[in-house]
Amino acid sequence: MANRSLAKDHADTCVLVTGGAGFIGSHTVVELLARGYRVVVVDDLSNSSETALERVRTIAGLAPDDNRLVFYEDSILDRDALSRVFDAHDIDAIIHFAGFKAVGESVQKPLEYYWNNVAGTLVLCDVARAHNVKNIVFSSSATVYGEPEFCPITENCPKHDATNPYGWTKSMLEQVLSDLYVGDNEWNVVLLRYFNPIGAHESGLIGEDPKGIPNNLLPYVAQVAVGKLARVGVFGDDYPTPDGTGVRDYIHVVDLARGHVAALDWMGGKVGTGEARGLGSIAGEPAEDGTRRGVGIFNLGTGTGSSVLDVIHAFERACGHKIPYEIKPRRAGDIAENYASCDKARDELGWVAEYDLDRMCADSWRWQSANPDGYATA
Ligand code: UD1
Repeated sequence: MANRSLAKDHADTCVLVTGGAGFIGSHTVVELLARGYRVVVVDDLSNSSETALERVRTIAGLAPDDNRLVFYEDSILDRDALSRVFDAHDIDAIIHFAGFKAVGESVQKPLEYYWNNVAGTLVLCDVARAHNVKNIVFSSSATVYGEPEFCPITENCPKHDATNPYGWTKSMLEQVLSDLYVGDNEWNVVLLRYFNPIGAHESGLIGEDPKGIPNNLLPYVAQVAVGKLARVGVFGDDYPTPDGTGVRDYIHVVDLARGHVAALDWMGGKVGTGEARGLGSIAGEPAEDGTRRGVGIFNLGTGTGSSVLDVIHAFERACGHKIPYEIKPRRAGDIAENYASCDKARDELGWVAEYDLDRMCADSWRWQSANPDGYATA
């Protein structure tokens, strides 16, 4: 069966965003609406808040009843609920964020992680296929490279074994989605490998709202800055990096969100050459309407590495006061350094990250200081 065409205007294109109330999802919905897309969000609110979507409406200037954004509180594991959503809307493409994402928790709860992330994606793809929707952008992660063989990491850097179930779900789902194309050349798949998304929308209305004590560096630093936590533990200062602390490629969540919009234009054949360039992708024959077929793989990062201390100091500049920290032992499973080569996304998608670390921290601080308890403040 044919795939739904993306060769049309944004205003005529309806995008299903799973996990659209979450951190990256909500920022992506803002960027989609800004470019005129119609958006349907499916989110079970297990790690997100409907308030985020109300604020997305405010940012986008949409009245509460404007149906350019529609929300369903459903799990992607609920086949009947998903079918009803596909029956009710002419969905053209899917941006699939919904999934559990806490590395440590995934070690404790492997069954929950594999079930939610892997089985949920299988149900989603099955229902989508039944409705002839075979355009999907998947939220993957630089975690699939494991300890990278080289830096900057290009898309053809070999994948390595994951060190936890969360990482395995990303790696496995890349394989599942690639195999969907191999089995049915109508599929148009993009795998986006995110580096470390941080920051917040410049309005300060939406941002990252982790439950409990944050595991990731930026939300932890932000909560120390706002006085909710005492000091940052720096996990290791004896790595082979310039200041001994771990180096990562932090990317502003708004840049990341725009990368998804660029990916949709690429899938629709509106930008890029479609050449695989040997970097992991499978370039299929384009469809008659010029839209792409195949599997496109892109890193989304800035190409710049920053150390843990760089981040703490940038955040101090943003919030205007010192951030206490202490050096702790290395965290199990951490690597010294990873940062992206983003040439492929630049050349094919016409996308580059615009915001630097200072801007990421300034926006993160605006969100955190206005919403010290996240959406619970609302
Ligand atoms: C982590 C996950 C990765 C996942 C990503 C999602 C691990 C090992 N990796 O990436 O699989 O895709 O989150 O966002 O969990 N750090 C501190 N103190 C802290 C927290 C972190 O020093 O309290 C350091 C870490 O050692 C690392 C850097 O800050 O050098 C970034 O850590 P984090 O934000 O957790 O991201 P990653 O480990 O890169």
